[in-house]
Amino acid sequence: RRSVSAPDWRGRIRRYADFPRPGVGFLDLMPVLADGESFGQLLEALAEPWRGSMKPDVVAGVESRGFLIGAPLARVLGCGFIPLRKPGKLPGTVHRRSYSLEYGEDALEMQADALAPGRRVLLVDDVLATGGTLAAALALLGELGAEVVGAGLVLEIVPLGGRARLPSDCRVEVLERV
Ligand code: PRP
Ligand code: MG
Repeated sequence: RRSVSAPDWRGRIRRYADFPRPGVGFLDLMPVLADGESFGQLLEALAEPWRGSMKPDVVAGVESRGFLIGAPLARVLGCGFIPLRKPGKLPGTVHRRSYSLEYGEDALEMQADALAPGRRVLLVDDVLATGGTLAAALALLGELGAEVVGAGLVLEIVPLGGRARLPSDCRVEVLERV
């Protein structure tokens, strides 16, 4: 009996049918974060590929669920954090990238002076679905002179084919493919 070992964080992912729209199956990661032990396991698993020679200088997280994972991951790795935000939230000079959604458009912004040139950046978000969000974030980081070491995500929704929208030389580490 393995009664002393903690249950795996994956067991706390909850699936909701027909959210946010009919026909869509939504995977809710919030119960993973709500439990201290599971949240710790998740962060350790996310950090693992980016230790040693792969260690970034900063983690860039995508608003909003990417903040919940990216900021604590930055501290687990011992680095800083910068936000890629929805439009109109960041002061000063910002760079913007628009991307298309299933219905309409959205955009991400980053402060022009957030990164010193050549900083090694790990991009973090919760889910890779169609890849639009991550592709826009990677383009923005490239435009601002980042050296992107890769992208770290919790889930990849494989049938949506998002990986094909990402540059083939970008290392993408996901914990769970569904
Ligand atoms: C969700 C999710 C990813 C993105 C993935 O964010 O958190 O960021 O969609 O989808 P894609 O690969 O098709 O672009 P959402 O924009 O719903 O907002 P939130 O993070 O603020 O909840
Ligand atoms: Mg998001």
